[in-house]
Amino acid sequence: MYYPDELIEEVRMRSDIVDVISGYVKIQKKGSNYFGLCPFHNEKSPSFSVSPSKQMFYCFGCGAGGNVFTFVMQYENYSFQEAVKLLAQRAGVDLPEVEYTEEVKKRESQRARLLEVNKEAAKYFYYQLRGKNGQAGYQYLKKRQLSEETVKKFGLGFANVTSNDLVLYLKNKGYDDRLITEAGLGSFDEKHGMHDKFWNRVMFPIQDINHRVVGFGGRVMGDAKPKYLNSPETLIFDKSRNLYGLNYARTAHTNNIILCEGYMDVIAMHQAGFSQAAASLGTSFTPGQANLLRRYAKEVILAYDSDGAGVAAALRAIGILKEVGLSGKVLNLEPYKDPDEFMKNLGKEAFLERLSKAENSFFFELRMLQRDYDLNDPEAKTRFYREIAKKLCGFSEEVERENYIEAVADKYRIGFDNLRRLVYNYAAQTGFAAPAVRPKSGIQKKNDPKENKQKPQKLLLTWLVEEPGLWPKIKKYISAKDFTGELYQTIAEKLLEDLDAGKVNPAAIISLFTDEEQQREAASVFNTKIMELNTGAEREKAFHDIVLAVKRNSLDYFSGQLGSDVSALSKVIEGKKALEELSKTHISLD
Ligand code: CTP
Ligand code: MN
Repeated sequence: MYYPDELIEEVRMRSDIVDVISGYVKIQKKGSNYFGLCPFHNEKSPSFSVSPSKQMFYCFGCGAGGNVFTFVMQYENYSFQEAVKLLAQRAGVDLPEVEYTEEVKKRESQRARLLEVNKEAAKYFYYQLRGKNGQAGYQYLKKRQLSEETVKKFGLGFANVTSNDLVLYLKNKGYDDRLITEAGLGSFDEKHGMHDKFWNRVMFPIQDINHRVVGFGGRVMGDAKPKYLNSPETLIFDKSRNLYGLNYARTAHTNNIILCEGYMDVIAMHQAGFSQAAASLGTSFTPGQANLLRRYAKEVILAYDSDGAGVAAALRAIGILKEVGLSGKVLNLEPYKDPDEFMKNLGKEAFLERLSKAENSFFFELRMLQRDYDLNDPEAKTRFYREIAKKLCGFSEEVERENYIEAVADKYRIGFDNLRRLVYNYAAQTGFAAPAVRPKSGIQKKNDPKENKQKPQKLLLTWLVEEPGLWPKIKKYISAKDFTGELYQTIAEKLLEDLDAGKVNPAAIISLFTDEEQQREAASVFNTKIMELNTGAEREKAFHDIVLAVKRNSLDYFSGQLGSDVSALSKVIEGKKALEELSKTHISLD
């Protein structure tokens, strides 16, 4: 689904970045830019800036940045094409219909139909809860201490006692039996004909991260079984890749996600102000869900039920979190069964206190393990220590492993050297764990030698965007070829071309990339902080140094290519000459 560049640029130009971002984040004008709290990381003082002249945003705290498309991609978790679509709609730009194959068309339209029928059903349930028929449901939710606001936020509803009213309602709206069946909202049998799946239950719509209803959970109001009835998996509902409440939790911006088991747990936590709560809904936590969480948080706090099944589920979840490189902690809810009951009995202050005391997941694992050993028996104790050593081999990174050996030795009063020896003995047989695989990230770490080379390139590009008048003064010495790496070269090529034409447009350059990480990197190129310099002479020296550094880096690069690239020699000769001349030349910034 590729739109022509001109069209993308038209959408971008008609979507003023200040306008768009103001719809999501509170920003205030300060000087020529706008500032606010960054929506992409947790902060107390604003380092998130939006520049109307550059039509870009950039966070000096976490490095998030880009143009209006990048913002929508990151905030809504959209692909580039989806972001273009959303902004086109907002700006009233018509996008051409895309040519799909028949099969894709059919599947897409089926998905759209399923989403539609679910939305219709959610509206119906919601409406029923407010009516005469829904009184029992409404009372039930009140009894569970849900506020009006909470009921609304989660779109809770009610399925009537009658066994086919939803089916009738949907058919009336033009949806056929097949679709209703496929959505899992109804089914057919000889005795009842076409009938509703859910009756006489309080309804919890399950939403995907974009707030679209993909399924339902329905709870009985008494003790009947099953307590919850859930929608089956459909084309739009993949249970292993969905978490209840994540549509809100992902924009809670708390750096952590509280993971629990049930509908009511999520709702109770949100009601108490912990909007970072999400649930895996009874089914066990999957690697697909862990990967989903990784986009929004670094740490997951497990708030599973405190019974045996909950502990077993927590132990499994810890392993899965570790596999994807997320750190886990475990919340102690004792003496209560789950977050909902805890909240009801002890309230949010106590919950906050427990959150701050959440246990490191490794220590939690050891504590659970210990229950199987009688530490008064030297033999059992030895076996327990061996098990600990075995677990310690699971840390692939040496520093982390050593830190844990130290902490465990301390906590269990095992001599540090003894424990360490045990760990290394064990590792001699089996080896240490391999590092967790973390999917691609274009973000480079600080102190990266590559980063040091790129810094002057970034500074120069930023400087040229801010003072385009300087370009003619250095044009003689610098060309796009002097920028190393594909991304930098692409950017420099376009920017220098624009400078030649006398119209600088950095935000358009960002749209040359459709990958979020690349856009972020590109944005950083235009937003490098140029140090505060007081005097003109200092500024001139800094600029001169930067130009020199860029040229020197390029010369290094081409010297390295001498053996393999025939054009390198002329570049090296040209580079040496330019460097020599540059070092003698005074570049005035006035
Ligand atoms: N669950 C389910 N089917 C059941 C029982 C449970 O799908 N028969 C799922 C639901 O998503 C439920 C979660 O597992 O929210 C946790 O189950 P449980 O702890 O039994 O229920 P609670 O969430 O505590 O529900 P409530 O507070 O309403 O009793
Ligand atoms: Mn409960």
